Amino acid sequence: MPLKNGHYLVESVALCWSCHTPGNESTGEPRYAGSTGLTEPSDPGYTWSAPNITNDPETGRLGRMTEDQFVARFRAGRAIPHSPMPWQGYSRMEEDDLRAIYRYLMTVPPAKNEVGAPRVPKKG
Ligand code: HEC
Repeated sequence: MPLKNGHYLVESVALCWSCHTPGNESTGEPRYAGSTGLTEPSDPGYTWSAPNITNDPETGRLGRMTEDQFVARFRAGRAIPHSPMPWQGYSRMEEDDLRAIYRYLMTVPPAKNEVGAPRVPKKG
């Protein structure tokens, strides 16, 4: 069951929601609509935003990514230095798992939420 497997992977194994949901590692909703204000110890002067990964056509990353582009993006690993997203671990995932994750996320209700730039200087 590819879809069920994708749900299990994003919710229980890969924990995508923990960063990509408003409210920052809480039970914020709507799930996968992105978040701001994440911190990364190796990058103390900045905060990070995790993009909206629903398929909203305007503000959602998945609305602008095909399944093949999604897999290729995960294979490529970390693109922005210090990004808190654990790209290294994810880049070793099986292709079938990445495809299941994409397909599951495409079934999540699209949410309109623009989080802005991924890396912004900390205020103050
Ligand atoms: C520890 C926090 C964290 C976790 C866990 C996490 N992400 Fe991210 N993600 C981020 C941040 C921050 C960014 C923006 C910086 C970047 O692109 O590296 C991001 C970026 C992305 C992007 C956009 C990449 C691009 O180049 O356009 C996608 C797609 C994505 N994440 C999907 C996922 C999926 C799917 C999972 C679970 C398998 C996941 N993320 C888990 C924090 C996280």
